Amino acid sequence: MSVSVERMRWWHIADLVPIEAELFGDERWSAAMFWNELANGHYYLVALDGGSVVGYAGLSVTGAEAWIQNIAVRGDRQHRGIGRSLLEALLVEADRRGARPVLLEVAVDNAKAQRLYDRYGFAPVGVRRGYYQPSNTDAVVMRRDG
Ligand SMILES: CC(C)(COP(=O)(O)OP(=O)(O)OC[C@H]1O[C@@H](n2cnc3c(N)ncnc32)[C@H](O)[C@@H]1OP(=O)(O)O)[C@@H](O)C(=O)NCCC(=O)NCCS
Repeated sequence: MSVSVERMRWWHIADLVPIEAELFGDERWSAAMFWNELANGHYYLVALDGGSVVGYAGLSVTGAEAWIQNIAVRGDRQHRGIGRSLLEALLVEADRRGARPVLLEVAVDNAKAQRLYDRYGFAPVGVRRGYYQPSNTDAVVMRRDG
């Protein structure tokens, strides 16, 4: 397996829509939302294997701070370091732009993602009640200052 991380282009969106549905169900983002993210100039990456999208992640920089918009790895390709590679690449970009802190929201019951973020220096700083709909799941806000 050889996975490369590259800038997301509009033609990757059709490929990531089924991954988004698999991972997030009723709380998935639509293709239109990803189109908007690219149109707004946010920094999005895809992990590609043989031209197929196996993961993706995005960062928005607003003023001094950066927000990680999403990180996702196709179910059958998780636990092989792809999530880590995507996160590292977003953090490199945040650093390159001098954005600090880097923040994100993660579901309170998503221990796997929280462990990944914790390993990269993110610490919980707050909770947004009922942030994820329709499940009404709370989000933990995590922040990295380094
Ligand atoms: C969270 C998510 C992005 C992580 O992606 P991933 O590719 O599985 O992450 P990694 O492989 O880099 O790391 C995950 C685990 O694999 C382990 N790992 C990494 N490379 C490995 C390898 N070569 N061999 C064995 N294990 C490995 C890591 O140590 C880590 O272990 P842990 O979960 O016990 O802490 C992925 O699980 C996902 O898409 N989840 C659903 C969507 C989601 O929740 N996104 C976050 C929303 S905020």
